[in-house]
Amino acid sequence: MSESTYLFHDTTGTRPANAMMLNALADLYDPFSRRRLREAGVRPDARCLVVAAGRSRVAAILAEMAPQGEVIATDIDLSPCRRHPRVTLLEHNIVTDPLPGGMFDLIHVRLLLGHLPADHRETVLTALVNALTPGGLLFVEEFEATWQTSVLSAPNLDDADRLFTVYHHAFQAALIESGNDPRWGRRAHHALRRRGLTVDTRGDTGTWTGGSPACLLPHATTEVIRPRLIAAGMPPADIDSFRQLLHHRSLVVKSNLALSHIGRHAG
Ligand SMILES: C[S@@+](CC[C@H](N)C(=O)[O-])C[C@H]1O[C@@H](n2cnc3c(N)ncnc32)[C@H](O)[C@@H]1O
Repeated sequence: MSESTYLFHDTTGTRPANAMMLNALADLYDPFSRRRLREAGVRPDARCLVVAAGRSRVAAILAEMAPQGEVIATDIDLSPCRRHPRVTLLEHNIVTDPLPGGMFDLIHVRLLLGHLPADHRETVLTALVNALTPGGLLFVEEFEATWQTSVLSAPNLDDADRLFTVYHHAFQAALIESGNDPRWGRRAHHALRRRGLTVDTRGDTGTWTGGSPACLLPHATTEVIRPRLIAAGMPPADIDSFRQLLHHRSLVVKSNLALSHIGRHAG
């Protein structure tokens, strides 16, 4: 992937919203990632790599779980990354920079691979599998985006369904335009199996109320990619109404399904 294909790469003028989006992702999905790490079992001396860390606390969680191990966290942009005394932060582009083979007992990558164009995604996934030690674990965590069926309750159900549907289609179109494959959240399971890993997949979803911190995620996202949503057919007035609705106390939505695939290398 050239960096520019990442949908959220050009955050010129929207840095605070981008930071809010990365914070919301961390607050909403770190607990699920922590649960999955616990379920898989992390060796106390594990060598761990967190790819595209963003604001997530996954590297810090791994540093706690592997007190005699080593944790490296990477991203193309380290400015939002959290600091931790036992985590080494490295600026690294997973598409263009080398990754040593057979080095890591555990690799975690959340909400990045779906953004890569298909050929880069395949190459990067193979490099991640090759970077595992025998018996190593590769965590691939992604969304199954279904905003068009999210609304559970709203001041006006039909209006809310329409706005969420328009948002869903424009967001999907903007993602696809940037090389993202919206089916990847599910297809990651098959892609890991095809590379000889045994795979365990679990999902996580929740219920969000309007005005709650969770709704900051779509609220911030619509600010960061507003021009892309408009180019993909979402009228500016709908974007404004959608954002207002996200603050409405009587809105209740189910969140997108997060899928956590754990691939275990034979060994
Ligand atoms: C949607 S955010 C997810 C952040 C974090 N993994 C999480 O789930 O909270 C995607 C992250 O991938 C990073 N990123 C984008 N392209 C990348 C690349 N080619 N190599 C490494 N990181 C990349 C971005 O800077 C951003 O932090």
